[in-house]
Amino acid sequence: MANKLGNQSNVKAQGNSTGYWARGITCTLWLTMSSESFGEQILYQQLCTMAFRSPMVLLGLFLLCRMLSNVQSAPIKITRETFRECRRGQWAGIPADCCPPKTIDGPIIDFSPPKLNPSKPLRVRKALQCLSGKELRTYTKKLQKGYRLMRALPDTDPRSYARQYGIHCAYATGSFIQDGSNNLTIDVHVGWYFHPWHRAYVYFHEKILQKLLNDTEFSLHYWNYDNTNSLDKNEALHDGGCYKSGLYFPPMYNDPTKATFQWNRSERAFDPKRPADLAFDGTRYNISLGPPSFPDNLTLAQIIWRNNELMHRTFLTWGNSTIAFMGKEYREGDPQALGIANGAGMQEKYSHTSMHCYVGGKMFEPKSAPEDPVFFPFHANLERLWDVWLSLGDDHRNPTSSDWLDGEFLLWDENAVMNRFRVRDFLSAEALGYTYQKANVDSWVNFDTSSPYPES
Ligand code: C2O
Repeated sequence: MANKLGNQSNVKAQGNSTGYWARGITCTLWLTMSSESFGEQILYQQLCTMAFRSPMVLLGLFLLCRMLSNVQSAPIKITRETFRECRRGQWAGIPADCCPPKTIDGPIIDFSPPKLNPSKPLRVRKALQCLSGKELRTYTKKLQKGYRLMRALPDTDPRSYARQYGIHCAYATGSFIQDGSNNLTIDVHVGWYFHPWHRAYVYFHEKILQKLLNDTEFSLHYWNYDNTNSLDKNEALHDGGCYKSGLYFPPMYNDPTKATFQWNRSERAFDPKRPADLAFDGTRYNISLGPPSFPDNLTLAQIIWRNNELMHRTFLTWGNSTIAFMGKEYREGDPQALGIANGAGMQEKYSHTSMHCYVGGKMFEPKSAPEDPVFFPFHANLERLWDVWLSLGDDHRNPTSSDWLDGEFLLWDENAVMNRFRVRDFLSAEALGYTYQKANVDSWVNFDTSSPYPES
């Protein structure tokens, strides 16, 4: 019976194949374009393929789909309940056991941005490679003291270092599941919450360091790894900007006697003469065999060329639209995107991933990345570059959907109080009380991708 019907509809379809395809394609295009989420688009495409053989079914489907696409979607929200339901997660098959305490003791307050005094200059997060002399010594000392104090806090304190890298792990390994679901895991990576969530994460980390140091002016600095070009010294001083190449691993994180050190890194990070390779291929890294010899065979000029090319392409050609740069839309009801290829924006997918792999060790896996303190100046640069991207073209805009703006997350602040914050609270560094020292981006912004690749 089934066979017979199948044959009949095949005959019918073949008899009018132009109309068949036209209706199918129109339906697919129309529904795909009128729906906002990737998941919906796929669903509609499949329904269309099944139904476009009959005009009546097609009409019914149009109406149904219209109704469905008008159902309000909603942003991801992390709540008390989400914490209560936290469970073991995993990343790339590697298990992760990092749930924070299941019950949040005490109140959850709504995040409010700091009250700023308009006559006081903003705090400046500086480029690490431009610190020198007394300023460098003072800063290094403070930073190391901050981490010493943070590491000394007991694990029962949510501001302790262990609890801070632990919470990143929970947000990165599908340990949290969407409220009311039993299988829709959550990840703040591979999608459009990547930039704002990490800005908030670094923000609270910095606040905690300030509190421990009893210094509200203390700022993290940034590892300006994208800056490939050292310009003339005189020029460097003219506007307070940093015009020195930031290609090398920041030395203050490499003193084995200090709390900013992490022994579990690849040998690349310990070599003061080895430039950061933004096109580093993480797939060549093997946990049991250790780091590949690559890119030993590249010259400095070749690495610089590749870095400039990669930055230029990901920020200015491949990353020229909101979704391309910011990452895939991700809402309540959507499954977690697995694997960077399935929805990470251009910065997250390329230079960000390369650098996690390049530093290696703890930084290699999302589960443990912030166990290496260099995670924080590294991510401070990523967030600075989010602002650089916004300034590079009219099409470079943040998403405007309330599903992004009202995405809601929880993190503990410097007083160990749980804060509920939304994406819209973390759109402007200035509103949060800090700014970034200017650094050279011309070498990759104006890079000519057709220029010849340097010879070895
Ligand atoms: Cu949450 Cu660079 O990762």
